Amino acid sequence: MSSEINKLACAVLTAFLVYLMSSFIRELVYHPEKTKEISYLVIPEKEETNIKDIDKKKNEEKVQDLLSESDILKMIELADSEEGKKFASKNCGACHLFTMPPENKIGPSLALLLNRKIGGAEGYKYSKAFKEKGGIWSIKNLYYFLDNPKVWVPGTKMSYRGIKNSEDLINIIKFFTINDKRNKS
Ligand code: HEC
Repeated sequence: MSSEINKLACAVLTAFLVYLMSSFIRELVYHPEKTKEISYLVIPEKEETNIKDIDKKKNEEKVQDLLSESDILKMIELADSEEGKKFASKNCGACHLFTMPPENKIGPSLALLLNRKIGGAEGYKYSKAFKEKGGIWSIKNLYYFLDNPKVWVPGTKMSYRGIKNSEDLINIIKFFTINDKRNKS
């Protein structure tokens, strides 16, 4: 009797395992297609089409972490830091300063931002969400934070909706790279 039960249990378990494996394999087969599509997106022949494609993709799928640090760096090569600077003073200047010596306002100082600890501006009182986030301000982290602050750091007290246009987004990141260099020298 108990061996019958064992057999039955075994059959159920096997069926379940087969189901798990098949969905795993489906995932494996499905994934490479996605990556192919993405690498097509981010190795642009022309800057404009690339950025539009990414915007479209973002709206369609609300994808996070679609791009790697080097993908973003490639886009930044084409970006315009002067435009980024204008965008920053208009959209961030009410709450942030970018100049030396570092000074906090409503938001923390954004001078020497890249590679700084997340939540690491001296003397600034961060939200709990920010204190617990961890990591450093890599280009990629900055990209995804500015893309959608409230999704990247749920519970942040930064009341800014995010930079919806990818061109503005890479322009401002380019501005940060140049501003940091200027502030270091
Ligand atoms: C309405 C005010 C406000 C605006 C506008 C605003 N921020 Fe912020 N920002 C904040 C606050 C407040 C924090 C601290 C968040 C926390 O502690 O949760 C913050 C944090 C940040 C941080 C994290 C810095 C660190 O030390 O870890 C970055 C980066 C940042 N903001 C960039 C920007 C950029 C770029 C813009 C413009 C596109 C912008 N912010 C617009 C208020 C603002």
